[in-house]
Amino acid sequence: MMALQKRFLPLLAIASAVFFFFLYHSTSVRETWRGLPQAVGMGEALSDQQKPTTENPDGEGTPKSEEETNYANWNPRPVFKEGDQKPSDYNFTSILVVPRTKEEDVNWIKEELPDQQTAIYVADDPSAPLHPPKNKGHEVMIYLSWIIENYDDLPDVAIFMHAHRWSWHNDDILDNDAAMMIRRLSLNRVWRDGYMNMRCSWDPGCPDWMHPGEVEEDMFKQEQSLLAKSWSELFPLDEVPSVLAQPCCAQFALSSERIQARPLSSYVWYRDWLLHTPLSDYISGRIWEYVWQFVFTGNNIFCPKVHTCFCDGFGVCFGGEDQFNEFISVRQQMRDKEGELREWEDKGKAIEEAKEEGRFEEAQQLDVPEPGKDKELKEQIETLRDDVNKRKGAAFERGMNPANRAMEAGRQWHEGDGY
Ligand SMILES: *[C@@H]1O[C@H](CO)[C@@H](O)[C@H](O)[C@H]1NC(C)=O
Repeated sequence: MMALQKRFLPLLAIASAVFFFFLYHSTSVRETWRGLPQAVGMGEALSDQQKPTTENPDGEGTPKSEEETNYANWNPRPVFKEGDQKPSDYNFTSILVVPRTKEEDVNWIKEELPDQQTAIYVADDPSAPLHPPKNKGHEVMIYLSWIIENYDDLPDVAIFMHAHRWSWHNDDILDNDAAMMIRRLSLNRVWRDGYMNMRCSWDPGCPDWMHPGEVEEDMFKQEQSLLAKSWSELFPLDEVPSVLAQPCCAQFALSSERIQARPLSSYVWYRDWLLHTPLSDYISGRIWEYVWQFVFTGNNIFCPKVHTCFCDGFGVCFGGEDQFNEFISVRQQMRDKEGELREWEDKGKAIEEAKEEGRFEEAQQLDVPEPGKDKELKEQIETLRDDVNKRKGAAFERGMNPANRAMEAGRQWHEGDGY
């Protein structure tokens, strides 16, 4: 008898497993289970709008199948609408939000932009009037802190910039100068678009940059392999995008409407993530560089036309995409010639150095710079520089006319309209 039982034990186990499988999937069990959330009070926690619909519209109370539950309402997409047209004499209010360290000098702001309202946070000084809860995550912590602290009383436009005035990542058409960028920024465009990257040039960052699915480490994008995990922590209800792109370097401007398109609690959530993530200060800050455009436009790729950004955004209008590309091409020719000239000079210097240090044999082997080539190159560079400057000057002139800006941006424009 005992022996028989042992032999049938595995069979018995399989039979009971199959039985419970069917029992679990039978409607009666599911409906009992489905009743639970109501019983524990989840029904009250959700507002009517968010409540997943489990009841039939015919009112008979038969629950819908799980597949029909309206998950879309659990993660409503923010409404990112265009700002309305303001009268041409409307004066936008604006603020410049800048993170700095104790050591960084931001006097250029007061000197260059005396009328600009500012919020300057000192990242590493908890006794400063404006400071973040923790010195972590670089500018991200401070941008988010400003939004959280001012959410209910925002000026029309907030400009988020770094503490340094000159930087390679400030566009060189605007002299790499943050003061010039802020002075020339069209608050109208920021208001209309809601979100504007302060860098127009695509490189680095566009047309595609971060690939959150990529797990191989990339020296230049150390944060890439950590992005997918961070994304699912930050936006648990949004699919990890295959690509994230916008012009680099985390300087941008926002309208008050755009900030308020997301609830205050979103920003608190993002900042909590930053406060608690085990990622390094550097990496957690860098991850956000290609996340801002998603937060403020809902799009994973944000790469506006470069010429439109310069023209409508900063009043530098080359007349259209072709004319802008021509300018870029002439400027590139000038840079190439400058490179050739440097090479020519370096060759001469190498020979001189070798001779000075008594390495005569080596000096004889070295490439001799072509005689007279330097003069020729200098002349070519001069001609190209004149051309570049002429085109640039004309673009600044053209940008003073609001009709030109509208045309280049493909906007309707009527006599009397402002920018
Ligand atoms: C905007 O500012 C300018 C210059 O300060 C002023 O002349 C103008 O009246 C202001 N516009 C409005 C609508 O207040």
